[in-house]
Amino acid sequence: MGVTTVTDVRPSAPTGIGAGGGVLHTLFRSELGGHEQVVLCQDRESGLKAVIALHSTALGPALGGTRFYPYASEEEAVLDALNLSRGMSYKNALAGLDHGGGKAVIIGDPETIKTEQLLLVYGRFVASLGGRYVTACDVGTYVQDMDVVARECRWTTGRSPEQGGAGDSSVLTAFGVFQGMRAAAQKKWGEPTLRGRRVGVAGVGKVGHHLVDHLVEDGAEVVVTDVRADAVARVTGRHPQVTAVADAAALVRTPLDVYAPCALGGALDDATVAALTATVVCGAANNQLAHPGVEKDLADRGVLYAPDYVVNAGGVIQVADELHGFDFDRAKAKAAKIYDTTLAIFDRAQSDGVPPAVAADRLAEQRMAEARAAAGTR
Ligand SMILES: NC(=O)c1ccc[n+]([C@@H]2O[C@H](COP(=O)([O-])OP(=O)(O)OC[C@H]3O[C@@H](n4cnc5c(N)ncnc54)[C@H](O)[C@@H]3O)[C@@H](O)[C@H]2O)c1
Repeated sequence: MGVTTVTDVRPSAPTGIGAGGGVLHTLFRSELGGHEQVVLCQDRESGLKAVIALHSTALGPALGGTRFYPYASEEEAVLDALNLSRGMSYKNALAGLDHGGGKAVIIGDPETIKTEQLLLVYGRFVASLGGRYVTACDVGTYVQDMDVVARECRWTTGRSPEQGGAGDSSVLTAFGVFQGMRAAAQKKWGEPTLRGRRVGVAGVGKVGHHLVDHLVEDGAEVVVTDVRADAVARVTGRHPQVTAVADAAALVRTPLDVYAPCALGGALDDATVAALTATVVCGAANNQLAHPGVEKDLADRGVLYAPDYVVNAGGVIQVADELHGFDFDRAKAKAAKIYDTTLAIFDRAQSDGVPPAVAADRLAEQRMAEARAAAGTR
């Protein structure tokens, strides 16, 4: 398609975008670009400044959340939208969804500039894309925000159950991570269960605490950590047999079979990989690999890494289901397939002689290429 839509952005904007700076280079020339469409949106009355990036619609309408964040610069915001939307193409492809990858960012501090008016204007911009982009929650946006956006835009998911939405996506995200972990157990130990295994969960927030429920039910021994004492207390209150350690650094040094990063990105850096006792890593956090090359270090140390964007796809599977009138059981059945997908990735990694993260990218690219080829022959 290669269409770039620019809405009400002055050529003299002090971002360098109009002057052909780094963002345009990334978009049109670098390996990380190739996005179909990038929309810059502005509404001075409400203060909205947003970027909607559609990386690919090869598999269907681009689907991905809206991040509301006080970026240091407009250029940083556009680059984030480009990166995040590209990631969604891969995630949606391996989640088996008929959706391409898209993502939007709203520039500014949600604590100070988020208003109903701004969200309604944003909804009109998303609606103007006529369904090529389907939005959802992300960092800084919540179910109640999507209810407002949905008043102007029918291509809005992540809404509240009262408004026909699916509500909190962490339930199926945790379920999907658990399926990925079962697949890793099958590959590593020959049986799809965590029974008798020691699993360390770093971050027991919305997703992590549901994951602990699955693990306890499956018969795993669970050790947790969280910077919030109340989050730890909620888990140990529910499951007195679960133990806690002071922080993530202590957790990775604890004798473990599985390490599950469920807090922030970048959890797997050089120091962590060197200290890991676990031989399986599988968790919900996005962007766990701190830098390129970590996936190879893990493989070299005999650690089986279940790629983050594959195992944490339960949430996007859930919101995608909203477009068809949300049905929890149907969405759960789809999230259960994360088990098969994760196993297929491990097998592909073995046959190609590459780390699972590379195998996952290859499988996603294959699915997108097949869809493009099929569209070309229609
Ligand atoms: N919620 C979803 O549906 C979903 C979907 C896909 C991916 N994810 C990813 O999963 C991760 C967790 O998401 P969530 O929705 O549970 O978020 P959350 O904010 O509810 O939970 C994160 C928890 O991690 C804790 N934490 C933060 N820093 C920590 C540290 N250094 N050490 C230990 N604990 C720390 C927080 O106190 C919090 O309890 C995030 O990376 C998120 O992007 C979430």
